[in-house]
Amino acid sequence: MKFTHQLLLAAAAVAALSAVPAAAALSEDDKGCLACHSQEGLKKNLGKGETLSLHVAGEEFAKSVHGELGCIGCHADVDSKKHPGSGRKIASAREYAVAKVEACSQCHEDKAKLFQGSVHATTLRTGNLWAPVCTDCHGSHAVRAKAAPEPMNGISCRKCHDEIFDAYAGSMHGLARGKAGPVKAPICVDCHRAHDVSPASTGTRLRDACLGCHAGALAAHEKWLPNTKTHLEVVACPACHAPASQKRVDLRLYDPATKQRMSDESGRSLDAKALWDLLRGVNREGAPARATLIGRLEVRTGAESHLLSAKSKAIKDCVTCHKQGADAFQNVTISIIGPDGRPVRYEAQKDVLNNPASVESVSDFYVIGGTRIKLLDALLALALAAGVLVPIGHLLLRKLLRRKPTERPQGGNPTR
Ligand code: HEC
Ligand code: HEC
Ligand code: HEC
Ligand code: HEC
Ligand code: HEC
Ligand code: HEC
Ligand code: HEC
Ligand code: HEC
Ligand code: HEC
Repeated sequence: MKFTHQLLLAAAAVAALSAVPAAAALSEDDKGCLACHSQEGLKKNLGKGETLSLHVAGEEFAKSVHGELGCIGCHADVDSKKHPGSGRKIASAREYAVAKVEACSQCHEDKAKLFQGSVHATTLRTGNLWAPVCTDCHGSHAVRAKAAPEPMNGISCRKCHDEIFDAYAGSMHGLARGKAGPVKAPICVDCHRAHDVSPASTGTRLRDACLGCHAGALAAHEKWLPNTKTHLEVVACPACHAPASQKRVDLRLYDPATKQRMSDESGRSLDAKALWDLLRGVNREGAPARATLIGRLEVRTGAESHLLSAKSKAIKDCVTCHKQGADAFQNVTISIIGPDGRPVRYEAQKDVLNNPASVESVSDFYVIGGTRIKLLDALLALALAAGVLVPIGHLLLRKLLRRKPTERPQGGNPTR
């Protein structure tokens, strides 16, 4: 029954195709495939109510950089003698698209390698299929040469990171993007790169990207900002250049032996109790310190990090940060690196800052603004007291450290 149905489809499709002159550039084999696949509305039922659209726009394909490859260039597994009807099992349209990265990778090995090292690829590997693959950014059947200038509203990152795009579009860079000049104002990939995108707040890559275009920036800050090097290390550029943004201090746990941030790759997300055990385990009483905490002043939300404004608006007043109880120090998180390479941040309650209790082993830690942030003192005091004050200890703990609600994935959710 299926077969006749398909023949009918094929006949209809041939009629449709011959009406489109651009399709003439297609090979005979490809025309054969398109006889069915140029049909609008042709789809495969995947079960559970999901369908896979099988429509491919032949003319667009013919005009694409891959037109000459032919369909088989990427679909070598389709055997035209047995197809259709081989009954290949496809769990979901998304899984199919993710698996097809392999087709692109055969010919574009260099890009594939960069991509496999990216935060997007690690996100996919942890089971979040809503991170992008090649075709999310390039499309599959109508890939064009990048020579075509990317219009602002069409940049590939926008469809998943829409809030960030909006913030970026209003920044001085976004507003200046269209201007001609010796250096073009940056778009997403100029700061983050396209294929080997890395987690935003680890390493120095983003700062290096800024300084790559603004070579004179270090010297310009030295004119008014003492300890310039320290400031530019412990204060993220947007903390001053997105002046209205809310800030936080992120205390990063480092392993002093390897100088790497501590990570938990087990895949489970550490709850407050597990983090607690980690802190306690690495800094046992009397043992030499095996964890270092280094703080960094940064912007609290991804979108606000992109609200960069003209230099005349940047924060210059020392007192904004250097005063007792400065706003910038009112939000404190503790972070380790999670299985996808991104930091997992645990928010600490503000009460902790106002109600410190010191213990000796704290001196093993180095914390920026250590004199102001007594957080760790309180953490350790609680840790040491936990044996005695179990019920209270647990209650406090749960209040003290909770997974930040904003850590939810913000991109790629199909329902948004
Ligand atoms: C007679 C109509 C017809 C022709 C000709 C045809 N297809 Fe299909 N194709 C289908 C149908 C129907 C399905 C869905 C059922 C299935 O998967 O077998 C399908 C599914 C597919 C899929 C989805 C994934 C998969 O493997 O199931 C791909 C990719 C595909 N075809 C590529 C091609 C290529 C490449 C050619 C040319 C070599 C081609 N098709 C020729 C009808 C056709
Ligand atoms: C440059 C590689 C490439 C070429 C050439 C190519 N495809 Fe595809 N095709 C893909 C990828 C990748 C997917 C996976 C779906 C996605 O990511 O959009 C796909 C998916 C499909 C599907 C499943 C439905 C869908 O859109 O997801 C069909 C049917 C299909 N291709 C048919 C064809 C036909 C017919 C041709 C020739 C006219 C062709 N393809 C040429 C890469 C290619
Ligand atoms: C998150 C979006 C994104 C993903 C995922 C992505 N690309 Fe790209 N790709 C881009 C952008 C943007 C450019 C153009 C700008 C650039 O290279 O900086 C580009 C450029 C390219 C180019 C042309 C580069 C050149 O040298 O002229 C190729 C080829 C390419 N990508 C292939 C791939 C392949 C293969 C994959 C999957 C392994 C992939 N891309 C995944 C966004 C992406
Ligand atoms: C069989 C080999 C082959 C496969 C498979 C293949 N490509 Fe290509 N791709 C090419 C060739 C050849 C070119 C043209 C190169 C050129 O003009 O410099 C090209 C060009 C491109 C370009 C434009 C590069 C530019 O200079 O602007 C992009 C982007 C791209 N491919 C992405 C993909 C994606 C995404 C996939 C998977 C869906 C894929 N390719 C699969 C061979 C392939
Ligand atoms: C691809 C190059 C490039 C990168 C990367 C880049 N910028 Fe810029 N930036 C520019 C250009 C070009 C302008 C001038 C825009 C204009 O014409 O108004 C600019 C303007 C600025 C200004 C405003 C200067 C003024 O005169 O008011 C500041 C501040 C600034 N950038 C900071 C940053 C920061 C912080 C980063 C990293 C997060 C960064 N830039 C990354 C190219 C770059
Ligand atoms: C402590 C706050 C602070 C931090 C941190 C900071 N800036 Fe600035 N930046 C300023 C202020 C304030 C100005 C304007 C100075 C003036 O009055 O000319 C400025 C000016 C600039 C300018 C314009 C320089 C010029 O030639 O006039 C650039 C570009 C810039 N910053 C980039 C950066 C980058 C990149 C980073 C991160 C590596 C960074 N800034 C970190 C406060 C800061
Ligand atoms: C001028 C350089 C620059 C440009 C352009 C830029 N970003 Fe960013 N991006 C940053 C900086 C700096 C951060 C914050 C890093 C940190 O916390 O220190 C960031 C953070 C991020 C984050 C992480 C947000 C989070 O929740 O922590 C994402 C996602 C992101 N950017 C995506 C984008 C996208 C998409 C675009 C284009 C619309 C873009 N960026 C444009 C510099 C840039
Ligand atoms: C955006 C917040 C911010 C602004 C604005 C700022 N600082 Fe800082 N400053 C910091 C942070 C964070 C540190 C890291 C060390 C600490 O707090 O102990 C630091 C460190 C310092 C240090 C070194 C302290 C030490 O123990 O090594 C000096 C000195 C200093 N700042 C002076 C200034 C002066 C003077 C200005 C104004 C011209 C200024 N800062 C503006 C956040 C800021
Ligand atoms: C198909 C959806 C999709 C597209 C397209 C996409 N991203 Fe992402 N991106 C994600 C997902 C999902 C994550 C994982 C983290 C999350 O959930 O926010 C992520 C993470 C990131 C991160 C790391 C965030 C962090 O917390 O450190 C950066 C930076 C980033 N993307 C930049 C980009 C840039 C630049 C582009 C365009 C070249 C882009 N993304 C295109 C979905 C997407």
